[in-house]
Amino acid sequence: MRPRASGPSAAFGITGKIPPESSSFADRAKVNSLREAAFLTTPSALWHSARDWVRGDEPTTRSVAGNALQNEADCGTFFAMLLDLERLRGEAILAPMAGFGDAVFRSLCRAEGAALVVTEMVSAEGILRGARRTWELAEFGEEERPVLIQLFGSDPGRVAEAAERILSLRPDGIDLNFGCPIPKVVRRGEGAALLRDLARMERIAREVVRAVPVPVTAKIRSGWSAAEIVAVEAAQRLEQAGVAAVTIHPRTREQRFAGKADWSLIKEAKKSVRIPVIGNGDVRGAEDALRMLEETGCDLVMIGRGALGRPWIFRQVRHLRQGAPVRDPLPRDRVRAAVRHLELCAARYGDPRGLRIAKPHLSSYLKGLPGASQVKDRLFRAASAREAIDYLQEYEERLTHGQRSPGEAGG
Ligand SMILES: Cc1cc2nc3c(=O)[nH]c(=O)nc-3n(C[C@H](O)[C@H](O)[C@H](O)COP(=O)(O)O)c2cc1C
Repeated sequence: MRPRASGPSAAFGITGKIPPESSSFADRAKVNSLREAAFLTTPSALWHSARDWVRGDEPTTRSVAGNALQNEADCGTFFAMLLDLERLRGEAILAPMAGFGDAVFRSLCRAEGAALVVTEMVSAEGILRGARRTWELAEFGEEERPVLIQLFGSDPGRVAEAAERILSLRPDGIDLNFGCPIPKVVRRGEGAALLRDLARMERIAREVVRAVPVPVTAKIRSGWSAAEIVAVEAAQRLEQAGVAAVTIHPRTREQRFAGKADWSLIKEAKKSVRIPVIGNGDVRGAEDALRMLEETGCDLVMIGRGALGRPWIFRQVRHLRQGAPVRDPLPRDRVRAAVRHLELCAARYGDPRGLRIAKPHLSSYLKGLPGASQVKDRLFRAASAREAIDYLQEYEERLTHGQRSPGEAGG
C-alpha cells in the first residue's frame, strides 16, 4: 500500500502534474459536470471517496464517485478544478473584508483579474438560525467564481453543519476564519480566539473537511500576541486536518491592523507545510505582491485594503509578473470606475441601499484626486445613486478638461 498522505494535500501533489494549459482546464463543460457530480452525491461522499481513490487505497470508490469520474486522470482534474490553486500559483486573490467585500466589489475584482475571491465573514450560527442578513452575506454571482464562502464559529459540529447547509449556494470552497480580532467575536471564542486553542481550531477544520465535498481553506493570524506566535504550528495542524490551503496574515490579534505584517512568518510556515500557503498583509501595489512571492516563497498573495478603490491592482500584479509595465489609471478613469461601481450597486441592491453600500468604496476611488474632499462631502450628502452618479460625471468632465494637456500627453 502506498504511504498515506494527509488530506487534500495529496490531491494537490497529484494535480501538480497537470500542465497549466491542459485541455482538461480548458474544457469548462467537463469541469462543470464534475462540480455538479460533487453536489449530487451525499455530502462528502464523492470528495472523500475520490480522495481515497487518488491515494490508491480504495479501488471500490469508482462506483461512489459516479460516472463523472471515469479514470484517475479525471479524478486528478476533479481535485485540480476544485482547488484550482496549482493553475493560479503566483496570482493574487481578494481578501475577505467585512463591510467592503460585497458581491459587487468581488465581481469587479474578479473582472480585473483576481484569481479567487472570498466573501465577507459569515457567522455559522447565523446560517443555522436561518438569519436572512447572514445568508445574504454568503450569496454570490456566477461571475465571481471561483468563490469561497468564509465561515466563522467556535463549535466544530455547528460550523460543520453550517458548512453543509451553505453548500446549497454551490460555493467553490469554504474558508474558515481564525483571525477576526473584534471583541464581539473573540469573546464568543470565535475568530482569533481560536489561535489560543489550536486543538479546537484543528477540530473545527477536520469536521468541516469531513462534512463537505468542496475544498476547505483556513485563514489565520500569527498568534494572539507577540508572546504567543503560533502561525507555524497552526498551519501544520490545519494541514493535518485536511485543509486545502492556509492563508497567513502575520499580525497578532493584539496588533489588529497596526504595525507591519511580519512576512518572515509566512516564509517559515511555507517551509513547514506541503499545502499551498497564501501570503497576506501590506500588499499595496503590484511590486509588493511580487516581493512577497519572492521573499516568502508563498504560493499566492491575498490583497485586502490595497484593492479598495483600486480593483485593477489584480491586473497590475499579473502584468508585472509577465514583465509588462504597470500604469495607474488616469484620474478621470478612476472616477469612471467609481461611477461603474455605484451603478452596479444600485442595480443589485436598489436605491438608496446601493448608494449606502457603495459609499465607503467611492472615497477610496477618489483618494488623492484634486478637490476630492469636496467631492466626497457632496457624495455623502447625496440622497440617491442617481444624484451621486450625476455629480461624479460632472466631476469627471471637470477632470477631463483640466487634464487634457499634461495628463493625456503622458498617456
Ligand atoms: C475592513 C476590513 C474587514 C475585514 N474583514 C475580514 C473578514 O471578514 N474576514 C477575514 O478573514 N479577514 C478580514 N479582514 C482582514 C483582511 O482579510 C486582511 O487579512 C488584512 O486586511 C490584511 O491584509 P491587507 O494588508 O492586504 O489589507 C478585514 C480587514 C479589513 C480592513
